[in-house]
Amino acid sequence: MADTLAIRGGVPVRTKPFAGWPVFAESDEQALLAALRSGNWGKLQGEQVKTFEKRFAEYHGARHAVAVVNGTVALRLALLAAGIQAGDEVLVPPYTFLATASAVVEANAVPVFVDLQLDTFNIDPEKIEAAITPRTRAIIPVHLGGLACDMDTIMATARNRGLAVIEDACHAHGAEYKGRRLGSLGDMGVFSFQSSKNLCSGEGGIILTNNDDLAARCWSLHNCGRAPGGAWYEHHTIGGNYRLSEFQGAVLNSQFDRFDEQADTRDHNGKYLAERLSKLPGLYPQVRTADCTRHGYHLFSLRVVAAEFGIGRDALLDALKAEGIPTSPGYLIPLYRQPMFENLAFGPYTGYRASQPELDYRQVKCPNCETISNDQGVWIEQRILLGTREDMDDIATAFEKVHAGRDQLGA
Ligand SMILES: Cc1ncc(COP(=O)(O)O)c(C=O)c1O
Repeated sequence: MADTLAIRGGVPVRTKPFAGWPVFAESDEQALLAALRSGNWGKLQGEQVKTFEKRFAEYHGARHAVAVVNGTVALRLALLAAGIQAGDEVLVPPYTFLATASAVVEANAVPVFVDLQLDTFNIDPEKIEAAITPRTRAIIPVHLGGLACDMDTIMATARNRGLAVIEDACHAHGAEYKGRRLGSLGDMGVFSFQSSKNLCSGEGGIILTNNDDLAARCWSLHNCGRAPGGAWYEHHTIGGNYRLSEFQGAVLNSQFDRFDEQADTRDHNGKYLAERLSKLPGLYPQVRTADCTRHGYHLFSLRVVAAEFGIGRDALLDALKAEGIPTSPGYLIPLYRQPMFENLAFGPYTGYRASQPELDYRQVKCPNCETISNDQGVWIEQRILLGTREDMDDIATAFEKVHAGRDQLGA
């Protein structure tokens, strides 16, 4: 006889809260105060942002880093640095935060959506080739939740077809592909330090690259089109003030001191949780490919297949919530189904008209993305993976309990 589910009045598996986010200690307070008291509050006066850029680049095996105000801007500047022009096409997955595609629109270019692999939640490299047209200029692979995309195949396709690769590594701080850190494998890699991210300063972003020329372009773009060593009121190219402040730099440096340990904890906990959950029928944790030597676990993602598990996603998530386990259904709408795309509500960014006057995102269909968004996707936040082995056991126990008691949900 199965235990009574908490949603039916039974005792919940857990009443204790999970780890919170962000975390900070006295060292973060001291770092922030020191930046305040230094009187150098802007990047160009102080050392905090510059120091962080150097540390973050080295950690990821990249030669250069340019810190900017957020990940969205980092993506757009990377596209501009890559030379994207009005009407150019950029391949993106539809299962990602809006910014991956909206940055393309804001570069006056055209996002072209390429479906996912169902098991990894990542862009399907086999479908990239078919999406390439004479107008395609770049690919933005998103390492969903911190799991590396198939970078060898993506890079080979890009090199054959003369395309730039900008990794959207906003979920993938410290994550690895064949022992190399993500964000340093493409022509450029972009990260976010927005509040929810595995390394955060409230807001912030960064562009990594190994290419000296691209680094110089990104630097100029984020600093009002200035040239390194040039005069203050001399502007060589369109750009803006997208610099990070020293307060954010100080918090990032301080947070970065504990990052590697946190990344290991998430990776170990995520691996353990995936092993336990994959024992239940109808639960498919995001497949960890052999090339993933460290998962970033910004998100622990899995699919629930209702016909096999016995109940559907909504009923499962409601029952887990009652058991004290917070989860989320993730991105519920493939990006091409967002009103912004269906209505081509691109404001002044009408570059698509020159190359694709018939552009109609209502015709786009990516079946795997729709399956995950509409029916199967489930997320657990990174902060929860910062907990203990017992925390992971509570999560697994709750899934098991709900599965055992699924008949109580009238499925
Ligand atoms: C995959 C992905 N790309 C880009 C971004 C944009 O980053 P930001 O919110 O810092 O602009 C985010 C984060 O929100 C993201 O999750």
